[in-house]
Amino acid sequence: MKILVVGGGGREHAIISKIKENKDVTEIFACPGNGGMANDATLVDIGAKDIEKIVDFAKTEKIDFAVVAPDDPLVLGCVDALEAIGVPCFGPNKAAAIIEGSKIFSKNLMKKYGIPTAQYEVFEDEESALKYLETAPIPTVIKADGLALGKGVIIAETREQAIDAVKSMMEEKIFGESGSKIVVEEFLEGPEVSVLSFTDGNIVVPMISSQDHKRALDGDKGLNTGGMGTVAPNPYYTDDIAKECMDKIFIPTMNAMNSEGRTFKGCLYFGLMLTKNGPKVIEYNCRFGDPETQVVLPLLDSDLLTIMKACRNGNLSEVEVKWKNENACCVVMASKGYPQSYEKGYEISLPEDRKNIFIAGAVIKDGKLLTNGGRVLGVTRTGETLEEAISNAYEAVKTVNFDNAFYRKDIGQRALLAIEK
Ligand code: AMP
Ligand code: GLY
Repeated sequence: MKILVVGGGGREHAIISKIKENKDVTEIFACPGNGGMANDATLVDIGAKDIEKIVDFAKTEKIDFAVVAPDDPLVLGCVDALEAIGVPCFGPNKAAAIIEGSKIFSKNLMKKYGIPTAQYEVFEDEESALKYLETAPIPTVIKADGLALGKGVIIAETREQAIDAVKSMMEEKIFGESGSKIVVEEFLEGPEVSVLSFTDGNIVVPMISSQDHKRALDGDKGLNTGGMGTVAPNPYYTDDIAKECMDKIFIPTMNAMNSEGRTFKGCLYFGLMLTKNGPKVIEYNCRFGDPETQVVLPLLDSDLLTIMKACRNGNLSEVEVKWKNENACCVVMASKGYPQSYEKGYEISLPEDRKNIFIAGAVIKDGKLLTNGGRVLGVTRTGETLEEAISNAYEAVKTVNFDNAFYRKDIGQRALLAIEK
């Protein structure tokens, strides 16, 4: 079987590594992939948003199955375009991807179907947003409606910050058209949990839970990033909470999308906050999270491609989804300066055993692997306990070297506190 994976980061490398375990797979292409995954996939020089070219390529190569991983192509309808030429895909169609593509859509969906989430107001013009902020409870959270490279959320600790956030989105358009409509939302508190799930529109099968570390610096300080590391499972996510989430959030969301005529098939990501009033949805993503995928997939003890096909074909209930009874920790190694400006082009040296080292931003030049992005790679290791997984991951980090490398030293420490309680 010939497989096409659309996307090019650490998440895609983790997906490709897992799909490769299927004996029927003869070749995997990545559009565009990156130099760090050249041993695992054939790199194709087509951007993930260039849907027309992706479709042409899939037709020419007679691709048997495609996985569309990033949010942009999903929201733009890449799955619809590939399915239209007869290429079966893992991933939601455009109508369903709106669950991530529009925050206003997802908030209204949750309100309509009684799914627990933060209180909110929608604003389509700056004047009414600013008027509302005169008396709104502070802190508050301002969210751009559309996709914004994961940066469209501003937490305002003061009224002035809230006003600045609204102006920067609606007047200065820092997120382009994505911020021309906004959501102003109640500030919630509690541990965060990421739950990725497989769904075929009939059932939802949650994957092992995980915890992201979004801030750039130790102690959850510094700027928000795409994610500096993850652990799985997330110890805050107990069996009781999992059951409550299944009943009040996961199944109701699947049913809500069905009722709206927007059946979701693929990976539905629930970003949850465990508040003192119960679990609430912070955000939905229409795809695998990154770097969550880099800890979740190494713990999967079943065949990923079989599960993906079942999601697409609507027979997920017939397929086994098993998890290893282990813990995983992923430490992201970034370029110094990320998420702001940073230098690229430093040679990366990797250990002999590259298993579960997922490369996010690298390029091959003159036969050398060079850094080519803010987040360069994720080092994942497993262990019987969380403590062991963390220690194994940091040991492995020592075997990876490049100039200006930067990583957090405290991935998983907060999760360990939950276990000690
Ligand atoms: P996102 O960019 O959508 O992943 O959101 C970034 C982060 O903002 C989330 O992981 C939360 O930590 C935080 N966040 C989003 N919404 C809220 C909220 N209503 N209350 C508190 N924190 C929030
Ligand atoms: N790690 C968060 C995300 O993928 O959106």
